[in-house]
Amino acid sequence: MSQDNAELEARLEEQAAFEPPESFVEQANVTDQGIYEEFEENWPECWERAADLLSWDEAYDTVLEDGDAPFYEWFTGGELNASYNCLDRHVEDGRADSVAIEWEGELGETRTYTYEELLDEVEDFAATLRDLGVEEDDVVTLYMPMIPELPIAMLACARIGAPHSVVFAGFSADALATRMNSADSEYLVTCDGYYRRGDALDHISKANEGLEGVDHEVSDVVVVDRLGDDLDHELADNQHDYDELVADHEGSTVEPVTRDAEDMLFLMYTSGTTGKPKGVKHTTGGYLAYTAWTSHAVLDIEADDTYWCSADIGWITGHSYIVYGPLALGTTSVMYEGTPDYPDKDRLWEIVEKNGVDIFYTAPTAIRAFMKWGSEYTENHDLSSLRLLGTVGEPINPRAWKWYYKHIGNEECPIVDTWWQTETGGMMITTLPGVNTMKPGSAGPPLPGIDAQVVDTEGEEVEAGRAGYVTVNNPWPGMLRTLYDNDERFVSEYWEEYSDPDADEWVYFPEDGAKIDEDGYITILGRVDDVINVSGHRLGTMEIESAVVGVEGIAEAAVVGGDHDVKGEAVYVYAIPEDGYEDRHAELEETAMEAVLDSIGPIAKPEQIVFTHELPKTRSGKIMRRLLEDIASGNELGNTSTLRNPGVVDDIAEQVSDD
Ligand code: PRX
Repeated sequence: MSQDNAELEARLEEQAAFEPPESFVEQANVTDQGIYEEFEENWPECWERAADLLSWDEAYDTVLEDGDAPFYEWFTGGELNASYNCLDRHVEDGRADSVAIEWEGELGETRTYTYEELLDEVEDFAATLRDLGVEEDDVVTLYMPMIPELPIAMLACARIGAPHSVVFAGFSADALATRMNSADSEYLVTCDGYYRRGDALDHISKANEGLEGVDHEVSDVVVVDRLGDDLDHELADNQHDYDELVADHEGSTVEPVTRDAEDMLFLMYTSGTTGKPKGVKHTTGGYLAYTAWTSHAVLDIEADDTYWCSADIGWITGHSYIVYGPLALGTTSVMYEGTPDYPDKDRLWEIVEKNGVDIFYTAPTAIRAFMKWGSEYTENHDLSSLRLLGTVGEPINPRAWKWYYKHIGNEECPIVDTWWQTETGGMMITTLPGVNTMKPGSAGPPLPGIDAQVVDTEGEEVEAGRAGYVTVNNPWPGMLRTLYDNDERFVSEYWEEYSDPDADEWVYFPEDGAKIDEDGYITILGRVDDVINVSGHRLGTMEIESAVVGVEGIAEAAVVGGDHDVKGEAVYVYAIPEDGYEDRHAELEETAMEAVLDSIGPIAKPEQIVFTHELPKTRSGKIMRRLLEDIASGNELGNTSTLRNPGVVDDIAEQVSDD
């Protein structure tokens, strides 16, 4: 390292606060500090600013309807169509030839869709879906990787008023079946396979296996041919080739269906405390307004930008910030099919350079991997087109933040560390890049109009520097409206903890721990429920546990998250073999690993499965999960004398450290 560089590193290491660069502020969409007060004083009408970013078929009468809290309704009386807002209106505005989606496949092929081309594709597929019998409000399941047909299918569903339920392609057959069953979904759009690190992966066999587990009749399955001759497969009677169907509908005109603001746009399943995934319901008006607004105010997106969010559309980040928010603003959204290190570790920077990406949004786990690979992979690429960087999904440690700031942003791009959830629909806590000072490691203040705080178990705000829980006092347009078919669970999961229903006071509880500083900046500490955050992906410990205890020969299991350098957290399983299986650890381990892959998918693969004859329990018989987390993380273990069986701790800890 040259001396200059060493000095720079040392300075960065020390620095706890960063001002947004002048050059950024000069052009930013939002620059006025007064926006916080403006929103507060004018709440909830302030949210008209978000709704104004959309084109409405019918103007709304009421911004917020709170008569049946916590079942809030936004922009009631308003009517609109999401696909019209993401496509037609840009074509009508003379931007038909602007690029909507710039797609790059892992093998290097590219596909470019202008707004007009994307609209044509969406209309053709919307006509196809209709012809298959899909009607307004039918849930269509989309089980696809990062190929252009995924956003096309989402927008086609939105066009005809059929909510989509996207299932992440990395999820297992069982996970697909569970979600289709829960949503009573009779239609599936999937593909034959896709490429990973140059290999053709079979996806259709997994989809077919999932379909076997669906307990109602599935009318039709549409299969995109991604792999051509690289994979032979046969289509069943109710299965159709995507290209053939679409060819029959080429040139179709499908008028966008007018939807009520509160009509469902999509369902997205996410993990919670219990074993069953929750179907988070998002609506057309509030969600679209909120994602468009946050894309404008936080990601600073403008129509002529090239913007890239490297998430997968199978998660909420991709829904909100690859598809709906950016396309509502008419920008160019980059989509990449593959992994960041194929064929080499500079793949992402090559894509940034080639496309002249202005704004880049990724996850801390990716940044930690880039750091580990080293800055030589960034140095050979011209990244000077970048003007803003973002992160999402998990806490970012200051070292990773500073690496991102220096090596990707060249100290010229602000970083927005955006805290939010599947349930919130869009960003909630983050700095506004043209307004606020940035503090690495802290997401920042709540966005204008978002009344979030950090409280103790009684709901009292904690002092600066003390740990507590995040709560949100006011509703916001992008919030989930309910859990599909389960209003009761919606209330008990999110509203019961801190609300006072008798006083009609409703407080949203996201189940995250946090600290707040004197300036009102919030540092997120992580989940306080039984959810593990692996590489920014949310996994329920109970889901994994039930897969493991389903294995013959395993009597009991506890699953916890342990610290991991790159993934943030990793899955650790502690399992007790049944009598007669004590000496068959290798076999049990293999079966348990398979069970987790089958029931959830490779993202949930345990880092380690530790076999023990007992789990550490309190005198009242509760498993000491905290202790198991500390063991998995290699932390100092506190006093264990209050355990019913303290002797077991050393035994387990030894096995974990041995690995
Ligand atoms: O714990 C928080 C963490 O991710 C959880 C939400 O996960 P999911 O619904 O899958 O959505 C992820 C993408 C929005 C939160 O409860 N989380 C998300 N963003 C951050 C974060 N933790 C710390 N900092 C963030 N910026």
